[in-house]
Amino acid sequence: EQIEKGGYKHFMLKEIMDQPNAMRNALRGRIYQPADVPDKWEIKLGGLEKAKEGLSADGISPLERMANASRLIFAACGTSWHSSLIAKYAFEKLAGVAAEVEYASEFRYRKPLICRSDCLIAISQSGETADTLEAIKMAKQHQALTIGVVNVVGSSIARETDAGMYLHAGPEIGVASTKAFTCQVVALLLMALRLGKQRGVLSETTLNSYCAALNSVPDSIEKWLAALTDQTRIVSKYFRLATNAIFSGMGIHFPVALEGALKLKEISYIHAEGFPASEIRHGGITLIRNFVPVICVAMRSDPAYEDMKQMVQDFRAKDAAVVVLTDDGNTDFSNIAHFTLHCPDTKLELQPLMCCIPLQLLSYYIADMRGCSIDQPRNLAKSVTVE
Ligand code: G6P
Repeated sequence: EQIEKGGYKHFMLKEIMDQPNAMRNALRGRIYQPADVPDKWEIKLGGLEKAKEGLSADGISPLERMANASRLIFAACGTSWHSSLIAKYAFEKLAGVAAEVEYASEFRYRKPLICRSDCLIAISQSGETADTLEAIKMAKQHQALTIGVVNVVGSSIARETDAGMYLHAGPEIGVASTKAFTCQVVALLLMALRLGKQRGVLSETTLNSYCAALNSVPDSIEKWLAALTDQTRIVSKYFRLATNAIFSGMGIHFPVALEGALKLKEISYIHAEGFPASEIRHGGITLIRNFVPVICVAMRSDPAYEDMKQMVQDFRAKDAAVVVLTDDGNTDFSNIAHFTLHCPDTKLELQPLMCCIPLQLLSYYIADMRGCSIDQPRNLAKSVTVE
């Protein structure tokens, strides 16, 4: 087991550190520059190009059906539900398509109105989550197209869906998902960009600039990891005895806040909640007082950045212990936050890939300092195959 951990104390830490490589694997062969044309990028998603046998008699590819879908329905559980929320923002903006996100467990027990023209996208690391599998079966009963975004090759969800993409993240052993999450976001961004092209929403120039930015994310994270590890360890020392923590972000960074809170809950057993920043004014604000850690994602490209800045000032005025994740070189929080962590710059829709890394590390080091069973937290299963 020590050999499998590659010298790290826990699988979770190994998997966090493995993310640049895992993301490269998720991108490999799918995003590339044709040799003879500088600055031009292509995205090729083999799993969406050819219909599985029996899917479509008229030769329409899953990609074409997706491009003509009246809406996308993302169905998932846990961390995979958070990557679905990020995907919703990306698909709406980059592919101009209506998208909804469902907890698979809620979806399957309702009577949702599903049409033939809908496309259900099931997101799952294991490919075995029972509720997600049932959501797929329901969508199929209504003859909607079903797409799987799955890590485990040959898993039930991979087999049950009409078409899909594998993450190629490699085996994830730690119960709390890290590299599968970032690879899900990578795969979904690729899909959103490809669909944006198919639907004529993205100009060639915009598509090229997104592709170049996405392709450089793994390198940016790799260069950043060593310094980030030192910084998050320092912050973790201050928070290791906390009993509650608040995570806050706006827009595409709200799901990042939710995922940050989930990671902390899962492995450190500290109660944590994620809020859309402004929504916190409608209740959550009562929890903010002396020494409560409040972790805010506030990127300058966020449409409501100025609001977020104001919120951070409010949190500080209430004597919370404030950590801000913001852009490289941004000094707006130097006199407000107790700690500021700077993320490498990228485009807004790709920023969650960067912002989630400090939150994973923060949870990891806090849990380690509390002596928790990090790779196998109490009561949690890697995949929930029971109903
Ligand atoms: C369990 C795991 C989570 C995971 C969720 C969904 O709750 O502990 O880490 O996010 O299941 O699993 P899936 O394999 O469908 O992504």
